Parts: sequence; structure tokens; C-alpha cells
Amino acid sequence: MNHSIVYSNVRINESTHSLRFFMESPVHPGQFIMIWAPGIGEIPISFSSVNNPVEITVKIYGEPSKYIANLMPGEKIFYRGPYGRPFTGVTGKKLIIGAGTGIAPLMPLVDNMTSGILSAKTKNDLIFTDRIKNLYVVTDDGTLGIKGFAVDALKQMDINEFDMIYVCGPEIMMKSVYDYLLNKTDRVEFSLERPMKCGIGICDSCSINGIQVCRDGPVFSIKDLKNMDEFGRTRLSFSGKRIYL
Ligand code: FES
Repeated sequence: MNHSIVYSNVRINESTHSLRFFMESPVHPGQFIMIWAPGIGEIPISFSSVNNPVEITVKIYGEPSKYIANLMPGEKIFYRGPYGRPFTGVTGKKLIIGAGTGIAPLMPLVDNMTSGILSAKTKNDLIFTDRIKNLYVVTDDGTLGIKGFAVDALKQMDINEFDMIYVCGPEIMMKSVYDYLLNKTDRVEFSLERPMKCGIGICDSCSINGIQVCRDGPVFSIKDLKNMDEFGRTRLSFSGKRIYL
């Protein structure tokens, strides 16, 4: 277990905080770390910036995330990692498609060649809209941008314009993007989320079709996903019970 000192903590919406701290190990876009809340638990969190001081973005949805989101500058933050297979970098034009807190792991990919589709249930849930110049905003309820889902904005774009498309968010959203892009392009990568315990390929809690998301992912190409029929359909709960999405 490593530790660092919290450098900053910025609340970016009602229930989401971005924390920065310094790490010695290099971090690549798409990787994650296991953050330990002493006496409470440990959860995986992706990086929203991979440059020191690195940045993680955490939404409060349980006790470990609540503890982490409330760490103040100067306090210790305990972690293992970074872990996982990162996104494949490209130098050309990129499109990122993110929904909810799934927007955060895509942020390290943003440069002046990046366009984005960022979606959320409602305007107040959107994050990082100030970090992308070429941006399409989508909300389920129409409170900002296009009313609908990320795939609705994608259908209005010429995907041949992009050298790579990166996708992260709720699996139902990613499945709709996958279904639309399948047989149109192979240059797509998805970052999957599954319940994680060990984070290093031992416990099987993050398994999808027998593949460990923590070790073999979390980033998978659209070609990889063709062989995973559980994608967009089922996942294991934290207690190991199969859940239909
Ligand atoms: S979290 Fe244990 S195998 Fe992936």
C-alpha cells in the first residue's frame, strides 16, 4: 500500500469531487488505482488527469467514496496501483464519448485534436464540459444541449473523420454506441466498469465472459467485445450474484 498527500480537493458538482496528489509511478490514460478508506473499504477509481499532481474524480455513492471525496489538502490518501490496460494513444483526430462519471477517465485523452460527446441525465450532472473545445452536450431530460442519449449525437457525426473513438460510461449507453459502430469501424475502445475487489486478477469479481476487467482491461477494443456476449447484458454483483442490466 502506498500513500500520498492530498494536494487539492475541488467539488465539481453536488456529489462529485476531483482530488489531486503526486504519484511516483507513471500513469497512462485509462488506468485506475485502488483507493483505501481505512476501516471502511477499498474502491477502484480512474484518473481524470495522469500528469502530476495526478487527478482522480470520485462520485459519492457509498461510504468508501464518501470518505475519499472528503479528504482535505494535507491529509494522507492510501492507494495501490496504477493498474490495468490503458487506452491506445493516437496522434490524429479523436472522439471521446462519455456519460456520467464515465466522462472522467476520458479526460486524459483530451488535446486540441479531440472532439467530445458528453452526456448525463440532467445539466447538473455534467462534468468537465469546460475541458473540451469541440463539444456536443446531451442530456436525457433536455436541460442542456441535445435531448436524448449519447448515441443520438453520434448518429449526427461523420465517424470517418476520427482516427480513434473512446467510450466510457454506463454499460447500457456503451452497448448502444457499440451496436451503432459495429461493422462501421474497428477504431473504437471502451473502458468497462465491473465490481472490483483485488484489482490484480485474483478474485474474479470483475469477470466478464471469464476475462478479468481489472487485469485484461478495463480498456477493450470493439473487436474484443465481439467475443464477450455478457457485455451490455449481465454482470456479477459485489457478492457474486449475476445481475441483468
Ligand atoms: S478485481 Fe479481482 S480479479 Fe479483478
